[in-house]
Amino acid sequence: MQPKLLITGATGFVGHNLLKASKNNWDAWGLACQSAQKHQYPYLQNVDLCNYKQIKTYLKNTKPDAIIHLAAHSNPNECQNNPHTDKLNIYAAADLAGLASDTHIPFVFSSSDLIFDGQHAPYDETSPYNPLSRYGEQKVIAETKILQRYDQATICRLPLMFGWAPPQTKCLLRSMANAIKTYQPLKLFVDEVRTPVDAFDAAQGLLLSITQPSSIFHLGGKTSLSRFELGHLLAMQLKINNPNIITVNQDDINMPAPRAKDVSLKSEKAFNIGYSPHSPSDIIKNFINKENERLNNK
Ligand SMILES: NC(=O)c1ccc[n+]([C@@H]2O[C@H](COP(=O)([O-])OP(=O)(O)OC[C@H]3O[C@@H](n4cnc5c(N)ncnc54)[C@H](OP(=O)(O)O)[C@@H]3O)[C@@H](O)[C@H]2O)c1
Repeated sequence: MQPKLLITGATGFVGHNLLKASKNNWDAWGLACQSAQKHQYPYLQNVDLCNYKQIKTYLKNTKPDAIIHLAAHSNPNECQNNPHTDKLNIYAAADLAGLASDTHIPFVFSSSDLIFDGQHAPYDETSPYNPLSRYGEQKVIAETKILQRYDQATICRLPLMFGWAPPQTKCLLRSMANAIKTYQPLKLFVDEVRTPVDAFDAAQGLLLSITQPSSIFHLGGKTSLSRFELGHLLAMQLKINNPNIITVNQDDINMPAPRAKDVSLKSEKAFNIGYSPHSPSDIIKNFINKENERLNNK
């Protein structure tokens, strides 16, 4: 029998990929908040992680062998305007780590590159954090509280995710590709740089980290890239010669959450345990092939 892995946020972009990546070695069970029924997966259930009693009962009944905690309010602008997002992003994460500690099972938390201020890239696991946004701050506080509750917990800091996901899941490349193919204006930051990865590769990194208690890992890609460069790479592979991509700088757009300039991650520590993310070109190629397959099978 395979060990039982509980994935929170299983209907999200990373969660979808983690369910897929874990299927050979784990008996994966997934949690969502309200969207479980929209997805065809046998062990998917809605449990509000902010309801401590509910999650405690769920864990008592299902007895997972490990937990990867992905569920979060993941939009920095939403978090900036809504202090109530602390409940899930900080307190539910710490409570879940506490429950994992009660049964001594591996617990992996998905943090973010946005804990850094963007002034001193590239960042490794020892770099000092200095978040600019409330979302980044929530991740820093959650990391601290998790390690206070469970010193065996593992923290994985994720970069910007792209790659393929089914249409019921939000997907950055699909929205960019749709705009590019229809020549809709697509405004993309030229002065905001990250080390993006395919969410499927990141999922494999998260799975590798399960066996590394009391550790912090950066799961960045091998290339630093702006969204503007990403858009042009996508247009090139879609064979669209004059895409309607509009260069924007962070200062041109007023958004609730302050944005960091360059939060590129150094991820050698994870590369040394076998984490091996694909290049942006390969990820885009794979996305286009899968998307064509989906559209042809419609
Ligand atoms: N995507 C990125 O580029 C990126 C980058 C860095 C870090 N991260 C981190 O990686 C993790 C996964 O990100 P993602 O993009 O996959 O997120 P996402 O697509 O926004 O998915 C969020 C998930 O959390 C669930 N959820 C929300 N509120 C909940 C609650 N009260 N109780 C239980 N589940 C709840 C959602 O379920 P429903 O659908 O039912 O609401 C959904 O499954 C997050 O921690 C995020 O902060 C993501």
